[in-house]
Amino acid sequence: MAKQEDIFKNVVSHAKEYGFIFPSSEVYDGLSAVYDYAQNGVELKKNIREYWWKSMVQMNENIVGLDAAILMHPTTWKASGHVDAFNDPLIDNKDSKKRYRADVLVEDHAEKINQKAQKEIEKARARFGDAFNEEEFVATNARVVEYLSKYKEILSRLAKGMTDDLQDVKALIEELEIADPETGSRNWTDVKQFNLMFGTKLGASADSAMDLYLRPETAQGIFVNFLNVQKSGRMKVPFGIAQTGKAFRNEIVARQFIFRMREFEQMEMQFFVRPGEEMKWYHHWKETRLNWHLSLGLGKENYRFHDHEKLAHYANAAADIEFNFPFGFKELEGIHSRTDFDLKAHEQYSGRKLQYFDPELNENYVPYVVETSVGLDRMFLAVFATSLQEETLEDGSTRTVLKLPSVLAPTKAAVLPLIKRDGLPEISKKIIDDLKWDFTVAYDEKDAVGRRYRRQDALGTPFCITVDHQTIEDQTVTIRHRDTMKQDRVKISELKDIIENEVSMKNWLMKM
Ligand code: GAP
Repeated sequence: MAKQEDIFKNVVSHAKEYGFIFPSSEVYDGLSAVYDYAQNGVELKKNIREYWWKSMVQMNENIVGLDAAILMHPTTWKASGHVDAFNDPLIDNKDSKKRYRADVLVEDHAEKINQKAQKEIEKARARFGDAFNEEEFVATNARVVEYLSKYKEILSRLAKGMTDDLQDVKALIEELEIADPETGSRNWTDVKQFNLMFGTKLGASADSAMDLYLRPETAQGIFVNFLNVQKSGRMKVPFGIAQTGKAFRNEIVARQFIFRMREFEQMEMQFFVRPGEEMKWYHHWKETRLNWHLSLGLGKENYRFHDHEKLAHYANAAADIEFNFPFGFKELEGIHSRTDFDLKAHEQYSGRKLQYFDPELNENYVPYVVETSVGLDRMFLAVFATSLQEETLEDGSTRTVLKLPSVLAPTKAAVLPLIKRDGLPEISKKIIDDLKWDFTVAYDEKDAVGRRYRRQDALGTPFCITVDHQTIEDQTVTIRHRDTMKQDRVKISELKDIIENEVSMKNWLMKM
């Protein structure tokens, strides 16, 4: 089996080679943790966004959309707590001059210990087969007990240090003898807080220019528009406002490709509810969002919930949907019950009332909010990495195939004339002219048809339509299915329905 790192390297190089993702401004050697979406990537990303938008906005009559500006009044970020508390603990290595997130250094160290325990468990599973009782083994095997208790102890001391005193985190790093991952040096500075917001200026003259921030989340644009939307849309609580858009964070450790970027896109929804009803809605959205992910068919075993034990000051419940990325389970989406914290803070800082008059209760209140927040780029990585597969065929050859959920595939069908003459290209182009009203379709006449199939497999195209001499006689073509490689002879007039049936959002979302 390929090693995790190799799988991940393969994902990054496939994304570049096949026109999905390029490093930003690559001619200047790129910009750290900033990426550009190329011709196929932009289609895949757009399809993920639409799949989300359709399920959240179009399918829910009490959820509406919004597109707030990236630049917001700077007091927004004071009220939201980002100016004072949107920090990461950073530590510098005095020898290498490299900067790290102190908590990540400790977490990575703890994870190595956890991995030792998991290895013992897997070894025992292989040894005992069906008779293996994991629970009993974990509770009684001395080595596993020791590893897991050390792992938990480190994480709990880290959590305490992060809230009580950052110097305890530094002490933990020293006690665990954690070294600079790149150079091995243990010569560390103290741990300091580092604000993640990017600053910018509004206005031309140096004297009157106003300091602004590039938004670090899209959610605040929703909060400050809550009453505008409620009144102009005559919305009744409970209702939601959904938004997709760019967010910016000056991440200290920006790595793992598009998993952690400095400029990224979020898909967020704030659901405004009656105070006291938030837990009901929190559970509703946890379940609904997991079902949305599962509808894409990437495998139930690749998702898990991580319920937060330590909550942010504004939340009374929070969970992550974690996904099994090529580098392990990590956060993909957050579901947070944010109480009335944000609206109340904006009331306090703006001096305006942000309250809803509930006609059924005959009273005014500040609604509570349940938020769902998923990173579009992380979704892209989850879908792309899981879909990229290397298959060994019956004849012993291998093929690289990007088994994207067909609803998300950048190109739904490629039309291939068997040869470049005898009128076959003309028929192919006619087929494209007909299909392109409904689907993104491609034309390819270069190379032998087998090689063209492989290229479309690597691009994730669900269908290849081949036009040959029989087409001239009876208006039929072969349609090849990406995943099974099965080929059927069908009438040209049937193509639209065959493709539609396979790629329509309706059919996929109905699986929710
Ligand atoms: N409004 C809530 C909020 O922003 P968050 O957990 O900080 O919560 C939500 O971010 C989601 O945004 C994450 O689950 C992740 O998918 C995505 N995200 C956060 N930081 C990111 C980054 N630097 N690069 C890519 N995606 C990121």
